[in-house]
Amino acid sequence: MIHDPNKVYIFDTTLRDGEQVPGCQLDTNQKVEIAKSLELLGVDVIEAGFPVSSPGDFNSVIELSKAVTNPIICALTRANKNDIDVAADALRYAKRPRIHTGIGASDFHIKHKFNSTREDILERAVDAVKYAKKYVEDIEFYAEDAGRADIEFLAKMVEAVIAAGATVVNIPDTNGYCLPDQYGSKILFLKENVKNIDNAIISVHCHNDLGLATANSIAGLQNGARQVECTINGIGERAGNTSMEEVVMILKTHKVLGLNTQIDATRFYEISHMVRNQMNMPVQPNKAIVGGNAFSHSSGIHQDGFLKNRENYEIIRPEDVGFPDATIVLTARSGRHALKHHLDRLGHKLEKDHLDIVYKQFLVLADSKQGINDHDLNQLVALHLA
Ligand code: KIV
Ligand code: ZN
Repeated sequence: MIHDPNKVYIFDTTLRDGEQVPGCQLDTNQKVEIAKSLELLGVDVIEAGFPVSSPGDFNSVIELSKAVTNPIICALTRANKNDIDVAADALRYAKRPRIHTGIGASDFHIKHKFNSTREDILERAVDAVKYAKKYVEDIEFYAEDAGRADIEFLAKMVEAVIAAGATVVNIPDTNGYCLPDQYGSKILFLKENVKNIDNAIISVHCHNDLGLATANSIAGLQNGARQVECTINGIGERAGNTSMEEVVMILKTHKVLGLNTQIDATRFYEISHMVRNQMNMPVQPNKAIVGGNAFSHSSGIHQDGFLKNRENYEIIRPEDVGFPDATIVLTARSGRHALKHHLDRLGHKLEKDHLDIVYKQFLVLADSKQGINDHDLNQLVALHLA
């Protein structure tokens, strides 16, 4: 397959890594509804579940495979035959199936999770890829805990699984351990030292334990990875996964990176709401791109600058991500310009002297309550004119 060298493939794992979060479990119908929205959003791959883990997950992979046409449907396995058999079975209706198999790559995982040796793990990795290849052409291999793995061993593993037929190799920072330059250097090392690296796409899969998941993913892309694994709202194990909306908007905002996706970003706000509602998982108001405050301006200095030219304080237009509109929130930190903006909007055209008086009364009121609404403003004007 010929790949556009600048295209970044978006691999969504909201329904697998995201759905693992306690309290976020979905039934099959809910997963199908989200998967259809992910398809409209334009994701390239949907990780639909871990079929061997439960009958519910198995069934979801079947139903998603039937419901979705364009994205690749991917099923997770461990590196053993039974997991792979079950995943292949669950993927039987997928138009574009992918098996995502893998094993621990760090010495810590090799010793303390598998009680094994590097040689044995390497053999199991290669065997799993070869075995999965009997079922489907498209095999993604994950080198779990690659973020803490010895780089020479990781390179050896990557080379071996590509030789065995892996089409995509995922380098997860499973524990969210790396710094962006460390993670970026890891990807670069693999690109420069694994001789068959161009036969596969390198994928980044970062966790947010230190709040670096998005930064690490971008560092990986800057160093040659071309698939990013992410979730809507950044949900996922522990502190979460890389947030899709952040990565996509970074690539759009920083055109100098020369990378693009086929995501329709104007759908982010809607799908973010769908995921938060279905999963019962609130989004923090200050969450980038989709948080409730992402486009609201509250301090007087910012409001004044915004009203003069919104680009003073807006690097993304709300409509670019489907957000209803920017808001000027009235608080005790607001200035006259913001108050006038809202009074004008409500049809109260006040001369400067009147505005000054109403502004003083507004500050007194704003000091005594959390936020000022339209009703409060109408009352202030009515009192002033009385
Ligand atoms: O974080 C991780 O390493 C994973 C793998 C199963 C891909 O989620
Ligand atoms: Zn993960």
